[in-house]
Amino acid sequence: MHTVTTIDALRHSIQQWRQAGHSIAFVPTMGNLHAGHFKLIETARQQADKVVVSIFVNPTQFGPNEDFASYPRTERQDSQNLTARGTDLLFLPSVAEMYPRPSQTRVSVGGLSTLHCGAIRPGHFDGVAMVVCKLLNMVQPDRLLLGEKDFQQLAVIRRMVADLNIPVEIQGVATVREADGLAMSSRNGYLSSQERPLAPLLYQALRTVRDAVLQGSQDYHTLVDQQSRILTQSGFLMDYFQVCRSIDLLPATAEDQDLVILIAAKLGKTRLIDNIYFSRQNV
Ligand code: PAF
Repeated sequence: MHTVTTIDALRHSIQQWRQAGHSIAFVPTMGNLHAGHFKLIETARQQADKVVVSIFVNPTQFGPNEDFASYPRTERQDSQNLTARGTDLLFLPSVAEMYPRPSQTRVSVGGLSTLHCGAIRPGHFDGVAMVVCKLLNMVQPDRLLLGEKDFQQLAVIRRMVADLNIPVEIQGVATVREADGLAMSSRNGYLSSQERPLAPLLYQALRTVRDAVLQGSQDYHTLVDQQSRILTQSGFLMDYFQVCRSIDLLPATAEDQDLVILIAAKLGKTRLIDNIYFSRQNV
């Protein structure tokens, strides 16, 4: 695997591959790679001749009181894992390389970015949209692979790519879970040994609500309230928990068929998010 830290060097490699007629798949990450990322890379390998991975802990998507400074940085281990998994190129830019001057341009996906995580973390999705837009302009891949665990992020990026006519195909990749159901996340490492066994309750609550909906229940509010109470009693501090339409992430009505249940909660100092999406049509 070749590692580059500058945009010029990245473009040089990409240009050589393009001249040789290779297709390119791109996996943007913030590092501290786990099985969820490896699944993205494995899928990317099957989709294109060359796989580019970026590791960049993007300061603009963290709020002032969030974990930017303490976000786990494990580049050496990540680099070994990427090599072992057949990554062709690692782009590892500094903050100065990505943001050489204060940016006067904003990339902001209205509406979608203000819901759910966007309401709890104002500006977060503007930071994500901006950095992914910049990375797409640098790498110019044929395919962009993103995890479905960050369902709202995926929706925001899909919308940005559609609105800005960015010539890339986006592929969402299914969430990878621990044996007990906890969605893989770089932030799981923040959980204490007391909190870790409680964390899968989040996915259990999602499944309970989904199963009730699939059995015909349409009182989404009561279903979610019941499960929220159980989670709160177990020590979670709920950010949101809602049955939504998967198309625009607005609250679902009884008529909607394609649904996603979105959840975010804090357990101690760790903020966990998860989701489950399904169609009522298939029952
Ligand atoms: O999901 C992430 O790791 C980040 O939000 C992303 C897409 C790499 C942008 O910084």
